[in-house]
Order: sequence, then C-alpha cells, then structure tokens
Amino acid sequence: MAIDFDLIRDRRNSDSLKWSESRANQVIPMWVADMDFASPECVLRALKERVEHGVFGYPAVTDAVTQSVIDWAASHYGWQIEAKWLVWLPGLVSGIHLACQALADDGEEVVTLVPAYPPFLAAPRATGRGLKTVGLAQDSGRWTLDLDALSSAITPRTKCLIFCNPHNPVGRVFGREELAAVAEVCQRHGLAVCSDEIHCDLALKPGVHVPFATLGAEVADRTVTLMSPSKTFNLSGLGCGFAVIPNQDLRRRFRRAASELVPLPNVLGLIACRAAFAEGEPWRLELIEYLRGNRDLLEAYFREHLPQFSVSHVEGTYLAWIDARRFRGQDAMRFFESAGLRLSDGRLFQGEGFVRLNFGCPRSTLQDALERISAAVSKLESK
Ligand SMILES: Cc1ncc(COP(=O)(O)O)c(C=O)c1O
Repeated sequence: MAIDFDLIRDRRNSDSLKWSESRANQVIPMWVADMDFASPECVLRALKERVEHGVFGYPAVTDAVTQSVIDWAASHYGWQIEAKWLVWLPGLVSGIHLACQALADDGEEVVTLVPAYPPFLAAPRATGRGLKTVGLAQDSGRWTLDLDALSSAITPRTKCLIFCNPHNPVGRVFGREELAAVAEVCQRHGLAVCSDEIHCDLALKPGVHVPFATLGAEVADRTVTLMSPSKTFNLSGLGCGFAVIPNQDLRRRFRRAASELVPLPNVLGLIACRAAFAEGEPWRLELIEYLRGNRDLLEAYFREHLPQFSVSHVEGTYLAWIDARRFRGQDAMRFFESAGLRLSDGRLFQGEGFVRLNFGCPRSTLQDALERISAAVSKLESK
C-alpha cells in the first residue's frame, strides 16, 4: 500500500517540541530531529490495542520485543545479537551519558569527532570526564575521517571514542574500510567505543550501513552500540532505545551506571518498538524512498538556485548540513529566521557558520522552505 507522506498533519497543539514555538510567527520548524509523518499503521494499531487495555503498571521487557530486535539486527545487518547483550533505555542521550561513565573513569578523557550531536559534547563534562574533540575533514566537499588527527589527539588518559554512524549532522554513512580504520586506531590506543547508530535504518542507499561491532570479535568486545526504533519510525516521544554490549564487563559497568537512575522504556515505547521492528519494514522502505526524493530535491535546489551555500551530500538521515560561511558574512541563524525557517544552529555542534535543516517533512513543506530561502536571498541581494 502506498503511504501518503505528502499529507500535511497539523502538529501545532500536539505537544510537539519542534512545533510548539512556531505557532505565533508562522516559521517552518526544521530543527529538532523528528519527522512530520505519522508512524506506521502497524505501530498505531498495537498502541491502540494496548491503550484499550487501560492498565499501565510497570512494564516488563517481553521475549517478543527482545526477539524483534534480534531479528531486525540479523535481517538488516547480518548481526547475530544475543538477548543478554541488550540493555534497554528510555532514550539514547541517557545511553551516551552512561557510556561516558562506564567506558572512562572520573578524570579520564573521552574523544569525539566534530561537528557532533550536542550531547556528545555535553555528556563527558557532565559525567566528570575530560573531552577531546577532533575535526572531521572535507575532501572535495565530502566529509571524511581524519585518522591522523584522531591518533594525535589521544593521550594516555583517553579511554573512549564516542562515534556516530550514520553521522549527525554531516550525513555521511561511513563505509566498512573507514570503520575498520577507526577500529584500528581504537585498538592501537586501547580505546573503548560508544557507537551511536540511532540513524542506521535511515541510510538512504539500501544495505550500506555496517554496525561497528560487526567488524570482528575484538571490535565487538570493546564496543557499546546504541540503537533505537525512534528515528526510523518517528517514535521519539515514546522514549525507547537500547544498548548492545557483548562484553560482560562493559555491560556490568554500563548497567551499574544506570542502576536506580535510568528507568526502563515506558510500556507504550516497548509495544511500539516490537510492532515497528516486527511489522514496519514495508513502511520503512517507502519512507526511505520518500526521504531520498526530498534529499534530491533539496540538493538540486541548492545547486541550481542557492550557490551562496553548499550542502554536502546526505547519505543517511533526514538532516542536511548546510555551509553558510561564504554567505556575505551574515549570521546564518538570523538569516534563516528572517527567511521564515527555524533550523539548528551549527555552533551547538561545534560547526560555526553551518546550519542543520531537517527535511523529514512533506515535500510541499520542503518546497515552501526552499522558496522562502530563495526569496530571502533575493531580497538581501537587491539591497
Ligand atoms: C546521534 C543521535 N543520538 C541520539 C539522539 C537522541 O536519542 P533519544 O531521543 O533516544 O535520546 C539523536 C537525536 O537526534 C541523535 O541524532
């Protein structure tokens, strides 16, 4: 059945973080990373049935939801996960903080690559760990890993790399060889890895995502992988994710950091997760097709009509990382706001002069946004 991703759903007055501030001034919100699409019918059905039951006591993680994760990882990534490797989480930001605590000791260092999802920058400091940042490089406009810089930044106090693939915000899906090179650096320096793969099911080319932990037994042994159905199936408001930790000692440390502090996902999150992984694949395939169309529209539009900016090719996620540094010395955020858009400020990611645009929306909304940018550029240039 074709799914109508073109349908505009009014998200104002729907308890949405993304849309709550845009009511007054008609700005199109394209910042926080959720999509303006309804979740798959199979998820809605499972949630309705559970709500009908009417009793919402403490949840149990059922064999069915665990099996749905195991089957999803096996069928999508050829990754054979064992049930005992899973640690359930109400959200992956909690997982990033727990990883900092479990993979480095107080006063030791965590390293990450910038630009970075802002909690990667906040979590080490919040947990009393030092933070080292290493810039991603650009090769003819394509974002790449600078492994020499990574190696040089590592000190004897550095214990953990927080890594993101597919990458938020630059949109790269790092390939097997790139990942193997990162793994080699981590191995050489004895670093554990927190691999945040929340966007893995949104690689826009089928079959390209490689879970870091599948590179080999030694790599799996030093890796905490964070995954979730929340980006793929637009379930962020239901708070459900998990860490996959094959190594028993790392798992024990991670669980100890979570103990009594981080609860299980709520019961509706678990229900939605099972339904999405067990039955949501046809919906996901259509979503990927639609997002690819949005990505192509956005990239072509910038190329043809907005050469003042450059947008690196988005290989995964629905987030475009826009370089506004050449744009007449304007403050990028202020410019886009004046155009009628709310984007994410690159400075939050250590990406000065960049903005992040969320194109997980109906195509007509994206078209409207692009035309608003064009009109604002023309207005500015005619002054
Ligand atoms: C890389 C990355 N990790 C984690 C999260 C947030 O995860 P959660 O909503 O499960 O806390 C996001 C959300 O945008 C993300 O992009």
